[in-house]
Amino acid sequence: MSESLRRHTDYGQVGLDEADLLRDPVEQFLAWLRDAESAEVFEPNAMVLGTVGADGAPSSRTVLLRAANPAGFEFVTTLSSRKGRELRAQSGVSLLFPWYSLRRQVIVLGDAAPVAESEADAYWADRPRGSQISAWASEQSEPVADRGVLEQRVGEYEARFSGADVPRPPQWGAVRVVPRSIEFWQGRSSRLHDRLRFERADAMSAWTLRRFQP
Ligand SMILES: Cc1cc2nc3c(=O)[nH]c(=O)nc-3n(C[C@H](O)[C@H](O)[C@H](O)COP(=O)(O)O)c2cc1C
Repeated sequence: MSESLRRHTDYGQVGLDEADLLRDPVEQFLAWLRDAESAEVFEPNAMVLGTVGADGAPSSRTVLLRAANPAGFEFVTTLSSRKGRELRAQSGVSLLFPWYSLRRQVIVLGDAAPVAESEADAYWADRPRGSQISAWASEQSEPVADRGVLEQRVGEYEARFSGADVPRPPQWGAVRVVPRSIEFWQGRSSRLHDRLRFERADAMSAWTLRRFQP
């Protein structure tokens, strides 16, 4: 068996107590995100988005968090992609932040929905032109014969929008996940990890905090 599959890494002594947490779990998440940035985690805002298709089959992929605030957690994507189709069929999703080098993980469960067009426009305006052209050229999640097809399409859209702003494609947008559960996991010695989870019934309700067994 490969050495890495036999390793029993000890996750250390840094604990997570109820008293360590801020009252607002989104503020607590932002504090951990800042820790991940300070520790130079690669792409600290990368998160694994889990969705479920209309047929009940799960799927996951990485996306980048673009905002976390009292309204929710936001990312940008192509809404006609597999993930876009799935979250329209079934709004329940998971977001997992894997900050392994800090022995930390955050899991958010919530309901996803596209943001308003005006908010999608603001995200679009903030994108580099090359990314905007790629969004036009790529039918995200669809098969393609070879890379040359994509590169040719990039050339076509560069010519089409030459000398002008690139408009937002209708299928490109942003998604907001309104959390109902946010779990903070801190690795501890001998696998006796800390798991503290904020939960609420809906966006109007207050958060409750409970500890879960590791
Ligand atoms: C580090 C990283 C960041 C990514 N960020 C995004 C993103 O913000 N939005 C996005 O649509 N895809 C992003 N992707 C690509 C997705 O993981 C995925 O391949 C793509 O969205 C298609 O997923 P789907 O076919 O399940 O819809 C990223 C991938 C990686 C590895």
